[in-house]
Order: sequence, then structure tokens, then C-alpha cells
Amino acid sequence: MENLDPSYSGDGMYREHIMDHYKNPHNKGTLDDADLTRTEKNPLCGDVITISLKLENKKVSEVKFEGRGCAISQAAASMITDEVKGKNVDEIENMTREDVVNMLGIEIGPVRTKCATLGLVAVKEAIKN
Ligand code: FES
Repeated sequence: MENLDPSYSGDGMYREHIMDHYKNPHNKGTLDDADLTRTEKNPLCGDVITISLKLENKKVSEVKFEGRGCAISQAAASMITDEVKGKNVDEIENMTREDVVNMLGIEIGPVRTKCATLGLVAVKEAIKN
């Protein structure tokens, strides 16, 4: 059975890495002059991530996120914003769940996948148009 406890953050040696991003998230906040914003919600729990970003020559020049939710969703969003900064939109479109799993450093089941990829989905949806 998957653990849906919002404070659940995974086990083992990678837990601290996740908790570190959860407690001290990178790129937290909103960009007042964002080119694109997007909010994604996990319908299973109601948690949300809002991404705002700026593009320059099809590259992400600045990105921030706001949100509330479990440690996995917030830590993953922090890692994803670090990761997409400087990337062009094609590279971001090719990013997958596996990339997020690698960033987190733990394997995640189907229920937690939504938590882990919430930030990535928000970024992808933002740049889609
Ligand atoms: Fe809501 Fe993870 S439990 S996003």
C-alpha cells in the first residue's frame, strides 16, 4: 500500500536530500514579470504547485515555484526548477518521470508519481503554447 501521509518523504539514504529541498526550497516564490505561469493540482490530495517562468530565446532564464503539499511534491518542484533553469523548451519537453526519479534519488510508486511530477507537469504545461 502506498503511503499517502503528506509528511512521508521516502526512506533510506536519500531522505535527507529530499528533506533538505523540502525545508529549504530553491527558487521559491513568484516572478512578477513572468512570461508564463501555470498551476497544477494533484486531484488525489488537492496539493498545488504554481510555476512562473521567463523565457529568453526559447530558454528558461528565470523560474520560481509556489505551492503546498507533501515533501515529495515540494522537494521535487525545488529540484525541477533548478534543473530547467537554462534549458531550452525542447529539452524540457523531453524530460520524463524518470528524470524526476533520478533527481529525488528514490523509486516511487504510481500514487507518488503524481506528487513527484507535479512541478514538471506545471513547467511543461506552461511552455506548451
Ligand atoms: Fe499531495 Fe503528494 S500527497 S502532492
